[in-house]
Amino acid sequence: MESRLTPLALQGGFATLDEFITQLRMNPLQTLFHDQVIDALTTNETSFFRDFHPFETLRNQLIPLLITRRASMRKLNIWSGAASTGQEAYSIAMIIREHFPELRDWQVSILGTDLSPTVLSQAKEGAYSQLEVNRGLPAPLLLKYFTKVGTKWVVKDDLKRLVEFRQMNLFKPWPILPVFDLVLLRNVMIYFDIETKKEILKRIRNCIHPEGYLFLGAAETTINLDPNWETLTMGLSTLYQHKAALPIAA
Ligand SMILES: C[S@@+](CC[C@H](N)C(=O)[O-])C[C@H]1O[C@@H](n2cnc3c(N)ncnc32)[C@H](O)[C@@H]1O
Repeated sequence: MESRLTPLALQGGFATLDEFITQLRMNPLQTLFHDQVIDALTTNETSFFRDFHPFETLRNQLIPLLITRRASMRKLNIWSGAASTGQEAYSIAMIIREHFPELRDWQVSILGTDLSPTVLSQAKEGAYSQLEVNRGLPAPLLLKYFTKVGTKWVVKDDLKRLVEFRQMNLFKPWPILPVFDLVLLRNVMIYFDIETKKEILKRIRNCIHPEGYLFLGAAETTINLDPNWETLTMGLSTLYQHKAALPIAA
């Protein structure tokens, strides 16, 4: 914390880190300094189709299953709960557009939320450097779903329409959310203490469909945190579902 925040304190003209922190505490949470602190303290590492297998499972098993189960409602709600710069949400959107043309006339919504306004503004813009698209995005998908604007690759509107980004702090009371069919909360709970992880897993149970699915990061689990989640294997992925849910084949 000290090594990440001291440069910010000095840049802001504060003599010590303590002075900087006192100033932060005295002001309401939304000053430029608070945003800079969030950026300095969070790890925003992400990439398109990160870890590969969850997206293969989505494409080969999970979305087909959800399409069958939601056929009467024709509605799918997906949440990328620590969206960072948006690659996770846009990866799901590409799978949907690329492999499930039947969803064109469904109500499909992918909500991306994050704590950091800086990463969210890039996510909303959908603009990525060459280096960022080189990480995990196959060339045919890049050419089909992005337009080159100057040095950036920008997500086309057809894909952007599926995705909405909003600021949300997982630590604070959550706003009213839709009932999700699928939640991805990947590579964020590793940074939280045990009580916070338990609380977040409980809240997810309250906003996910009883038969909905939860993906966590490869180093994250519900085990020993919340006994109400069942661990499932689908394709080469591990995912989680309410214990009371129907078996996969139902
Ligand atoms: C390592 S990135 C993970 C991005 C993506 N889910 C993935 O797996 O590639 C973690 C993200 O969690 C966000 N984050 C950290 N603490 C948070 C909180 N309390 N509420 C919401 N987002 C948070 C950070 O801003 C960061 O963008």
